[in-house]
Amino acid sequence: MRKKKIVESVQIIDIADRGKSIGKTDDGKIIFVNGSIPGDIVDILLLRKRKGVFQGVVKNYKSYSEDRVTPICSHFENCGGCKWQHMSYDKQLEYKDKQVREALKRIAKVEIGELLPIVGGEKTEYYRNKLEFSFSNKRWLTDEEIKSDKSFGDTKVLGFHAPGSFDKIVAVEHCYLQASPSNEIRNFVRDFTINNGYSFWDARQHIGLMRNMIIRTSSLGHIMLIISFSENDQDKIDLLLAAIIKKFPYITSISYVINPKVNDTMWDLDIVNFYGEKDIKEKLGDIEFLISPKSFFQTNTFQSKVLYDIAVDFADIKGDEHILDLYTGIGSIALYIAQKTKSVLGIELVPEAIVDAKINAKLNGIDNAEFLVGDVKDVLNDEFIKPDIVFVDPPRVGLHKDVVQTLLKISPKKIVYISCNPSTQARDVALLKEKYKVMKSQAVDMFPHTHHIENVMLLKKRE
Ligand SMILES: C[S@@+](CC[C@H](N)C(=O)[O-])C[C@H]1O[C@@H](n2cnc3c(N)ncnc32)[C@H](O)[C@@H]1O
Repeated sequence: MRKKKIVESVQIIDIADRGKSIGKTDDGKIIFVNGSIPGDIVDILLLRKRKGVFQGVVKNYKSYSEDRVTPICSHFENCGGCKWQHMSYDKQLEYKDKQVREALKRIAKVEIGELLPIVGGEKTEYYRNKLEFSFSNKRWLTDEEIKSDKSFGDTKVLGFHAPGSFDKIVAVEHCYLQASPSNEIRNFVRDFTINNGYSFWDARQHIGLMRNMIIRTSSLGHIMLIISFSENDQDKIDLLLAAIIKKFPYITSISYVINPKVNDTMWDLDIVNFYGEKDIKEKLGDIEFLISPKSFFQTNTFQSKVLYDIAVDFADIKGDEHILDLYTGIGSIALYIAQKTKSVLGIELVPEAIVDAKINAKLNGIDNAEFLVGDVKDVLNDEFIKPDIVFVDPPRVGLHKDVVQTLLKISPKKIVYISCNPSTQARDVALLKEKYKVMKSQAVDMFPHTHHIENVMLLKKRE
């Protein structure tokens, strides 16, 4: 057997892509680890080399960084959801900003007109409007529990996936991500189903009634609950949902889905509305949004307004422009800007989101917004009215290369690029640079205590 190698007194010097920490040994070896932060000095167990760099596990702390703070959450060690809760918020912002700058330097290799400082969140706790919890018959056990000689017979659990695990779930008693009554609802559902002998999902054997649960909340006080069951055991479903209604009569929308598939995704399944409204509503600025169960909505409501306001400011809309909003979701940006301009056209892949977008236009008395459903790479072409400004807000993979080509062809005066992945954004900016220069870039922190970053860029067509 190969001897395990411990490297002692490694300085943690930086944060890498995806939030891993970078350690550097005295002889210049770079090791990626989880859990520690720049300024820590640690002993590391070396694991395999991947893509030219060593991966490791911190085995011992020699000294702690002065940027450490005490995590507020009791699940911090095990959950992994808020993995930077032990780093001061100022430092979190500094590292996020740095990641954007480095992606631009390393990948995009372009000059930036103005690199504006990241906008931090006013709310660093209870900032999410949506959480998904998983049921499992395999609670993730802590190191101490494993080492103890206790037996853990029934380990039914409702919480979050342990980092890197598809079947083990970390038990959550209180989560600081979503405001009340999220914790109360989750704990009630967990206790009710355990006390009444409901079976929980076994991700290896693909059995067990209770699978997942999504809670969505809105600043208007609306609450949506969607529970996923593996089979249509109507008696048990009715009993549970009736108990939830009795306990939380103010929940505005309760739905369920029967998911007999191996994977968890419910987006290809029928969602059955059991109680109250099918949808919830949210308000950003003056615009009210109806959000149906399958539609995307930014998960940090307060910061989405900040994000959209920066995007609008970058776009500098004069009032007579034709604007495209690619990856429009429920028409969020399109409707947010519609009253400032001549016309907007939103394109989105999810048909349910486009239904919402059209309803939302009516709801807000907006008659200069149109929406098309489909993949942007197939729908967008150079036969539309030539847009003056294009907003793009793609998922993490960034823009499809065909979309980049079409943008170069239709060449709007300005592109406002919102991204949740600075690496793919930088890649796309590089592909656009023959015709566009980056005038401004500003990150917005939508996800405090995580390494995730949202970044807005203004690209202007070269003269
Ligand atoms: C990051 S979200 C942005 C949504 C919206 N702009 C907002 O601020 O709420 C990305 C959206 O792109 C949609 N999407 C993903 N891939 C797509 C594609 N290839 N073509 C069109 N829309 C897509 C997703 O369904 C999602 O609604």
